[in-house]
Amino acid sequence: MGQKLAAGNWKMNGTAADLAEVEALKAAHPTSTVDILLCPPATLLSRMSDVAKGVIATGGQDCHANASGAHTGDTSAAMLVDAGASYVILGHSERRTDHGETDTDVNAKAQAALANTLIAVVCVGETEAQRDAGQTLTVIGTQLKGSIPEGATGATVVVAYEPVWAIGTGKVPTLEQIAEVHDFMRAELTARFGDTAADMRLLYGGSVKPSNASEIFATSNVDGALVGGASLKAAEFSGIIKALE
Ligand code: G3P
Repeated sequence: MGQKLAAGNWKMNGTAADLAEVEALKAAHPTSTVDILLCPPATLLSRMSDVAKGVIATGGQDCHANASGAHTGDTSAAMLVDAGASYVILGHSERRTDHGETDTDVNAKAQAALANTLIAVVCVGETEAQRDAGQTLTVIGTQLKGSIPEGATGATVVVAYEPVWAIGTGKVPTLEQIAEVHDFMRAELTARFGDTAADMRLLYGGSVKPSNASEIFATSNVDGALVGGASLKAAEFSGIIKALE
């Protein structure tokens, strides 16, 4: 199993003033037994990478599938690396909803990420309507199959299970529901990729807080978390990291 991972997704939040939170997080976890990752908006990536260096890894929140060219507003995987990133979040439900990203799009982006030595954090998750209709495992299976490229390994791909209805809502699935999906993902990934799937880190995301982190991390096949709101402040994110350490 790869080292456990506490990942923060700052989404469209953060300016230079917030780099003080990164300094504080570094000071709180100068040496950690887990991997710590922060994914700021693209505008802050380079400066955050400088501040975080040596203690906290940084990542992008998306990348384009192409290497360069006429794609106004987009960022390539190589540009993220140039700005200090070692990870990139791909296929977040907000990208799938706001920008119409499909599994095929996410797969192409993941191929670009891997080709540029970025670790891809591929997000999957069902909507509330899909869960209510009993379609959760079918949806997750389809997203995994479509979004993760051939040749993925435990060292190059992380999967984040984020039920759409749990993101930013304070609603969290039961531990049984989390275990069911994570066990299913491990089995699906093992069937497709073989032994290396044992090393693929499977993160849970959706309203993770210091108060619920310990029980989530004790759940079957949960290797860390992808945290939104609670990753913005060092004190709160530190509480989650401590639960994983
Ligand atoms: O990518 C992390 C995310 O979608 C979860 O957000 O605010 O519920 O922790 P939040």
